[in-house]
Amino acid sequence: MKNPFHFGTLVSGASFYDRAEKERELLRAVENGANVLLYGPRRYGKSSLVARVLEKLRASGHPCIYFDMMKVDSVDAFLQAYASAVLDLRGRASKSLESLSKFFRGLRPRFSVGDDGKPTVELDFSDPPTTRTLEDVLSLPEKAAENGKKIVVVFDEFQEIARLSAHLPLERIFRSVIQRQKRVNYIYLGSKTHIIRRMFTEEARPFYQSAIPMLLEKPPQEESLAFLRDRFANCGIEVEDAALAAIVERSENIPYYLQALAYEVFESADATGRKSVSPADVADALEIAERRSADTFENIVENLSETQRTLLTALANEPAAAFDAAYRRRHRMPNYATIASALKVLVEKGLVESGRKSHRVANPFLAAWLREPPCTASVPHSTADTE
Ligand SMILES: Nc1ncnc2c1ncn2[C@@H]1O[C@H](COP(=O)(O)OP(=O)(O)OP(=O)(O)O)[C@@H](O)[C@H]1O
Ligand SMILES: [Mg+2]
Repeated sequence: MKNPFHFGTLVSGASFYDRAEKERELLRAVENGANVLLYGPRRYGKSSLVARVLEKLRASGHPCIYFDMMKVDSVDAFLQAYASAVLDLRGRASKSLESLSKFFRGLRPRFSVGDDGKPTVELDFSDPPTTRTLEDVLSLPEKAAENGKKIVVVFDEFQEIARLSAHLPLERIFRSVIQRQKRVNYIYLGSKTHIIRRMFTEEARPFYQSAIPMLLEKPPQEESLAFLRDRFANCGIEVEDAALAAIVERSENIPYYLQALAYEVFESADATGRKSVSPADVADALEIAERRSADTFENIVENLSETQRTLLTALANEPAAAFDAAYRRRHRMPNYATIASALKVLVEKGLVESGRKSHRVANPFLAAWLREPPCTASVPHSTADTE
């Protein structure tokens, strides 16, 4: 039977649960002409939620652009890809090459037809690109929005603009162009919560208070339990309540890991033809998931300094609010300053999620792997005793 759980891709339809309230808030914000910052830790479901919102917006006649900042590594690449995205919208409305050329005037466009039959555009600009080029390209959506319906632009992983250019003040340029626009709404997504929050909440930063902040949290536990129960039941598998609770607990109720663990549980049940699942089956499935990632985990740990490794292991065993003397003693850690710099690196690598109230290992499977004792000893049964 086909596995009903999916992870690592955008999910929709029956694979998607909860989030109705956030969906409404996002749609409402667009309707009100407000820009939104949707942020939250990695793998909580930001991109899937926004994909769903965009589907609804498209259905109600809003042209939409989804742009993943993680996919571009330079301003050049951004400019080319963004212009193509606008061409995708505009191309459908434009009848002639002449009108397209007019639309991209000043950017020296070269048009061709891609393998998929769609028109593509290549801009010919100076290297490195100037502020003016960037402003012109960022202004394209506003120009494309002609008749009534607002255009919605999503910038996923928006904090990555910091990586794109050393020679242009990107944040300032983006902000100054965007704030003049009347016919485009922006949804910014960010997963490096500490970085993205600062971008929008520090007074000196260009994006200060320029969007409604929305934090995407974990789904309520009851929703997660109901989702799991239904998906298994649809396939004729009954899961004990304690086993459902174990899946939620072991995945820390983070949607990605919840689906990944449930996937593994389903695979084992399907392989053996079992129609019921117990907590022990969940523990076995977690072990399989950990074993599958062991190479990656070893690689991660090998590339850390000793202090970083000590800190990561300590957080796996005990998430921390602050690294006070007692915590440091318990985990045999060095002085506070050394820990603070190790923490910064772990957060930047995405290995530790730093909330306002606590620091914890971002991946619960990695945390479980780190908690395992380095060796196990088993004493063979004495044959003399059993005979
Ligand atoms: N609403 C949901 N219902 C069920 N599963 C979900 C939901 N949202 C996310 N997931 C699970 O989490 C995975 C990651 O989702 P998604 O890529 O949308 O998250 P993200 O927050 O954008 O992650 P990243 O930080 O990696 O960009 C999905 O593949 C799916 O397994
Ligand atoms: Mg995402």
